[in-house]
Amino acid sequence: MSNFYEETVVDIHHWTDSLFSFRTTRNAAFRFQSGQFTMMGLEVEGRPLTRAYSIVSSHYDDELEFFSIKVPHGPLTSKLQHVNKGDRVLVGKKPVGTLLYDNLEPGKRLWLLSTGTGLAPFLSIIRDPETYERYEKVILVHGVRQTAELAYGDFIRDQLPSDEFLGEQVTEKLVYYPTVTREPYVNRGRVTDLIVSGQMFNDLGMPPLDAEIDRVMLCGSPAMLKDCRDILVERGFAEGSQNKAGQFVIEKAFVEK
Ligand code: A2P
Repeated sequence: MSNFYEETVVDIHHWTDSLFSFRTTRNAAFRFQSGQFTMMGLEVEGRPLTRAYSIVSSHYDDELEFFSIKVPHGPLTSKLQHVNKGDRVLVGKKPVGTLLYDNLEPGKRLWLLSTGTGLAPFLSIIRDPETYERYEKVILVHGVRQTAELAYGDFIRDQLPSDEFLGEQVTEKLVYYPTVTREPYVNRGRVTDLIVSGQMFNDLGMPPLDAEIDRVMLCGSPAMLKDCRDILVERGFAEGSQNKAGQFVIEKAFVEK
């Protein structure tokens, strides 16, 4: 288990029958950047059973937080969803990922486009003061099927703007745009459709995506990523990586089995 820290579960929250979050202790030696993921899971029959998980908590938090779906019959999540306070989990020592500021060229607006648990890395990014130093506006878009899946909505809308340290910047710069596809809600439709139709920009009172000033981070299902990438490429956005900064970067929302 030398590639992993053993951490202790300190809190669990079930959002719906299929979504939950939990917090663990954090080894003082574990460092990560906002937006990164690491392997996380359980020891099962003496071996690590892990999957890639984006880190929800901020890099300055004393604890770690993860946001997970419960995959029906999933080898890891069918066990992980039953963790209790005091249980041990494994956290990989080497966080990685592409959703990093340095993989993007400087810009004015940062769009964080997510579906489902793809929200996770952006929860870390919206709690990082550097985000607000780098961008004039930060727009967090979260697309889900049902309103109950709008996890962290109250935190983003109510708690973060009154945060002692971040509140002022969040109030001035962060815009939250949740959207729901399969039941009535104030914003309706897929993220992709809302971009193509222009509805999202109308709702926000902002000009549409412009590769000159906009930078985009994407995290969601493979289909959502493909469709968003196609839209961005068509609009002249180039994908960034560690080797060459661009106008958008992509990470998939990982847990599928
Ligand atoms: P829809 O209800 O139309 O399938 P999931 O839970 O399947 O990951 O979906 C989360 C959200 O992502 C849902 O609102 C779903 O819409 C939406 N979605 C699914 N596929 C795409 C896609 N290709 N582009 C954009 N949004 C998508």
